[in-house]
Amino acid sequence: MRQGMQPGDMSPGPNMTMKHKTPDQLEEMHFRSVLERLSPNQGAQMLRYGWQREGVISLAQGEGSCKTPDFIADAAYKALQDGKTFYAPALGVPELRQEIANYYEHLMGISLPTSRIFATGSGTTAMHLALTSILEEGDEVVAVTPIWKNLLGAVELTQSKIVQVPLEAQEKGWQLDLEKLFDACTTKTKAILIVSPSNPTGWIMPEHEMKEVLEFARDRNIWIIADEVYHRLTYDRPYAPSFLEICEPHDRLFSVNSFSKSYAMTGWRLGWLVGLAESESVIRDIALYDNMGPPTYAQYGSIESLRHGEAFIADQLKLWKINRDKLRAYFDSKGNILWPPSEATFYSFFKVEGEPDCLSLAKRLIDEAALSLAPGCAFGKCCSGWLRLCYAVSEDKMDEAIKRLDTVIG
Ligand SMILES: Cc1ncc(COP(=O)(O)O)c(C=O)c1O
Repeated sequence: MRQGMQPGDMSPGPNMTMKHKTPDQLEEMHFRSVLERLSPNQGAQMLRYGWQREGVISLAQGEGSCKTPDFIADAAYKALQDGKTFYAPALGVPELRQEIANYYEHLMGISLPTSRIFATGSGTTAMHLALTSILEEGDEVVAVTPIWKNLLGAVELTQSKIVQVPLEAQEKGWQLDLEKLFDACTTKTKAILIVSPSNPTGWIMPEHEMKEVLEFARDRNIWIIADEVYHRLTYDRPYAPSFLEICEPHDRLFSVNSFSKSYAMTGWRLGWLVGLAESESVIRDIALYDNMGPPTYAQYGSIESLRHGEAFIADQLKLWKINRDKLRAYFDSKGNILWPPSEATFYSFFKVEGEPDCLSLAKRLIDEAALSLAPGCAFGKCCSGWLRLCYAVSEDKMDEAIKRLDTVIG
């Protein structure tokens, strides 16, 4: 049983079911022993707990409340009608790979050959493809935290070890001490994992720090795995700096991306991966044995999102900025809440003075205020006491959520 949880509090997920078995029982069942060692997923447990309660406003999950725009859905529907219902190449239909190349050219002015671009069945799948192409049992991955829990789980599944390097929360924003990052690397370090913009903090790694990381990684033959899924969710610039802008084609880099957040397509399960020049055949092999590529018809929807999605991104950001400012004004009025400023994503990662136990606070919020937030301890070792709130909802919902929050922390 996890810290702070009571038996019967939550319906068990796969992870908890495993934990109810003794190692002997597991061995008897012939499941992989690594599953017994996966770190607990307190965020997922709390999410399920919130789902069980009537009338809960859930700001615990990382997605916007807008449905996918019609021009994207229509294109996928047309593709279905046109018979785009057959197997397609495992790395994506050529039109989509080309459209992703065009997107980078228009947005960042960088030229990427389609042989380095792989369409995937989600950002999560892109991450798994990248990790499983390089990690072996016993490797170490140095990850900047707080970090989206699923990425830690994805590394753990490869039987590599995660070494966490926490950002520091300062009044002016989250900061990374690069020396700490470099000191955490050993001869076993295979990769540095950086999520920028970060889920949950909204921290953006500045380009000059990216350059230092790249130099360090080049010297040590360490891979950089850059999760850039939130690169368009920026309030003060058109996009967040990308490792793709500074890396050469042969640098050991994987950049993970997704259609989920920018284009309100979380349920489509579509993403992409950009790899180094030598990676195409390796990623193709793994993709073939994985899902043989993303759904064919859906890829035609995502082509339209890249071609015509800019206005939609801007509209979403406008709404999220209103909510962000509302929340900032509310927190400022309380005086007992630390929310280091961030210029990206749709998350507030905050801490309430005098509330060190984020699991019990998250549970109280559900029980007493019907408001579900994600507990900070789900985002790494450093994050006990923090909460993550996703403000990508309607203004009315945001107003109601603030009222509910106030009944517990006010
Ligand atoms: C940092 C990060 N990477 C990847 C993903 C996965 O995105 P997708 O929906 O494409 O699997 C998420 C989803 O929340 C995320 O927060």
